[in-house]
Amino acid sequence: WMPAAALATAANHNVKQISVIGAGLMGAGIAQVAAHQAAVRVQLVDTSQAHLQKGESIILASLKRIFKKKSADAADAARQTDEVMARITLSTSTEQSAASSDVLVEAIVENLEAKRRLFRQLDAAAPAHAIFASNTSSLPIADIAAAVSATRRAQFAGLHFFNPVPQMKLVEVIRIGETQPQVFETLLALTKAMGKVPVSCKDTPGFIVNRLLVPYMFEALRLVERGDATKEDVDTAMKLGAGYPMGPFELMDYVGLDTTKFINDGWYQSGKGLQGSKLTEPSPLLDQLVADGKFGRKSGEGFYAYG
Ligand code: CAA
Ligand code: NAD
Repeated sequence: WMPAAALATAANHNVKQISVIGAGLMGAGIAQVAAHQAAVRVQLVDTSQAHLQKGESIILASLKRIFKKKSADAADAARQTDEVMARITLSTSTEQSAASSDVLVEAIVENLEAKRRLFRQLDAAAPAHAIFASNTSSLPIADIAAAVSATRRAQFAGLHFFNPVPQMKLVEVIRIGETQPQVFETLLALTKAMGKVPVSCKDTPGFIVNRLLVPYMFEALRLVERGDATKEDVDTAMKLGAGYPMGPFELMDYVGLDTTKFINDGWYQSGKGLQGSKLTEPSPLLDQLVADGKFGRKSGEGFYAYG
């Protein structure tokens, strides 16, 4: 089911195809809601077939969950899944994909240099009208946008989704000084066509949600590191005492421990107003898990083990 008004809105802004670069937890989710809810064509890009297949399997599992609930008939659910999947093309060629897209959403690793390198490539390959957006959790949008030409910077913004993308209703839309009003409007329309609720915020570390959520996660880490409570009791306490759907350790496993560490360490090193702050001091407990390759759910183990 697609809301006709939302569809019309995306189409009115001439968004017919989007490229999503990075087929991990977030890229897969963004590709899914674009193809399903907004009904636009999607090119999902990653560095290898193996990464693309992983992304595709995340999308398939999620669509299966959604259509199983909506349709009692298995054949009908399969047909609806196929319809969405037919709008998604997998690609290892960033340039080829960029050349035919109207909006490019970057969802690769949380690393400024990697994102800048990618956007430089995209700038050379994408059509002049294409809008560029980053799903970064914590990096300044202006610092990423500095990698592209001045004309493209006018078409650059932050488009920050939440995990799991098909379930979480929010998208933070972040303008930089150069972002043209019609680019911002197009991104708002696309967000709504994807079935999401947009909020806007200045280009400050963590925007709204992560500026509050990440220090909370690190306070939970420090609490356990001091030996004040176990991680299990902290998780139970925050679920039953504060009504959160997941405790902070479950949530860090869900977000990815590597990503959680990249976010916080980046702020500790150079985050505006957060550099060297007590609030962003790295956690030895988290560092050890990441060093051991325990990245949370996506790698099978983090604070907890997953079957
Ligand atoms: N795709 C489709 N449907 C999904 C899904 C997915 N990936 N994940 C969950 N669902 C659906 C389920 O099918 C189920 O639907 P019904 O209620 O209609 O049956 C519903 O969502 C609830 O799922 P579950 O019963 O399996 O589990 P739950 O009730 O514990 O909900 C959850 C799961 C939505 C993930 C919930 O635990 C939650 O909200 N957790 C917190 C998530 C959160 O805070 N995310 C933000 C992380 S921070 C971030 O993203 C920003 C950043 O930059 C790091
Ligand atoms: P992930 O580790 O699940 O996936 C990242 C993907 O990007 C991998 O498949 C990797 O192969 C691919 N990749 C890396 N470099 C690439 C390149 N140059 N070209 C193409 N693909 C490349 O990470 P994720 O959790 O999906 O996070 C992606 C981005 O979204 C990060 O910036 C992260 O901070 C942000 N984010 C994450 C969450 C979360 O909860 N995990 C929420 C919101 C935003």
